[in-house]
Amino acid sequence: MSSPIEHTKFELPTIFVIFGITGDLVKKKILKALYDLYIKKHLPEKFRVYGFSRRDYDDSKLKSYLRDIMIKGAFGEPDKYDSFLNAFFYVKGDFFEKSAYDHLAKTLGHVDGQWRICTNKLFYLAVPPSSYSDIITNLSVTGLTIPCSPEEGWTRVILEKPFGTDLQTAIDLDKQLGELFKEEQIYRVDHYLGKETVKNILVFRFSNSFLNPIWNKDYIEKIEVRLLEDIKVETRGAFYDKVGTLRDVGQNHMLQLLALFLMKAPKSLDAQDIKSSRSKALQSLQIMTPEEVAIKTKRGQYKGYTSEKGVGPKSQTETYFRIEASSNLPEFRGVPLILESGKAQSEPCIEVVVSFKESDLCLYSFPGTQRNKLHYHLKPDEKISMRFLAKKPGFANEVEQHELGFDYHEAYDAEEFVDDYEGLLYDIIKGDQTLFVSTEEIISEWKFIEPIIKTWHEEKKPELEIY
Ligand code: BG6
Repeated sequence: MSSPIEHTKFELPTIFVIFGITGDLVKKKILKALYDLYIKKHLPEKFRVYGFSRRDYDDSKLKSYLRDIMIKGAFGEPDKYDSFLNAFFYVKGDFFEKSAYDHLAKTLGHVDGQWRICTNKLFYLAVPPSSYSDIITNLSVTGLTIPCSPEEGWTRVILEKPFGTDLQTAIDLDKQLGELFKEEQIYRVDHYLGKETVKNILVFRFSNSFLNPIWNKDYIEKIEVRLLEDIKVETRGAFYDKVGTLRDVGQNHMLQLLALFLMKAPKSLDAQDIKSSRSKALQSLQIMTPEEVAIKTKRGQYKGYTSEKGVGPKSQTETYFRIEASSNLPEFRGVPLILESGKAQSEPCIEVVVSFKESDLCLYSFPGTQRNKLHYHLKPDEKISMRFLAKKPGFANEVEQHELGFDYHEAYDAEEFVDDYEGLLYDIIKGDQTLFVSTEEIISEWKFIEPIIKTWHEEKKPELEIY
């Protein structure tokens, strides 16, 4: 075996420990992401996955459970399923039971001994947030997250949203994480930041010079972020009823999207600089008073929601919201920032629309709005389009609206796309924190939404509308 010094950080053998291996997130996202990385040879050559869960499984039962998911999901290149699954092992245990972690530590130590190297270790908490505290405490007290030496092997902890259920619980979680781990060990996932189109926002904004001079309140009339889904709560009624749309997608995905549109150019492409710019944009959001919440927000619930499995018959949980926010950044003062999201929507779409002010120089009249609009589409299309006016051919000076556009799927082949979780996992292995959320961002997000949720539920303003 070659000496550890010859390994670059990325080539070092890596062990993934996945808490909640039999859960939804592994089934829907993580397994496919790992498999795609494996197929593309983007995983370290030597890797293992230890699945940690309460179920009465063993290695072979885990493998057959995962193989079923791969078959049902029609993962590509079936001849590679077995070699991939060979790397999977099972650890049975309760998240709060220290002895299970002692067993895990021994097992991982054994692998290190066998491979005669201090492996990298990545602990993925694909579990409900109520288990976070037990898991991170046990990881820490068993010494599992301490690298065996400063020179070789890293250990990283990955957490999924939601980070807390309100401002205080987010602060508490952050405090606990900060006591147990160094910031560079913590990866907080907001999978929206891993989407190809979202990753493009910074490139689009900061490498196209024509945008710079007009990216401010003198030219921009409003920015709208929409996340409208046709799906209902599906099987997640019990979870959703405690959360509601604003906490589910507003506090995280939508505010992150808005931040990317508001933020100033980072000093460099360094992860810290980018996160700091995003964070300042989020800090700039004006906290609303109850009076403002009553006027500037709307909340709704789709008809039939209270009959969903797991939902209380008198539930007041919102499945739709619209918020008119504002920022105190000098460049955006007074510009309405609209956030709108809902389940059970007839016209689903995920997009950010930047509307520009009508210019005094507009000489030609047009029936309807003359405003130029920049549409940043994330779903169902992945494209950027710009609405503009042009002369219709003919004798008269008739003006018509047209679109300049760039469509990702017309421009690139499907194989070139990297799935959100695939890209994020790759970055975690690489040690790039750019696309992960900092604690400052999370705290600012909660500071902004908490007063809104309070007014909705304590003062019942505005009324919950049924749609
Ligand atoms: C999740 C929410 O975080 O994001 C879901 O919990 C929502 O309710 C989903 O449907 C949307 O993500 P995507 O990637 O499907 O657009």
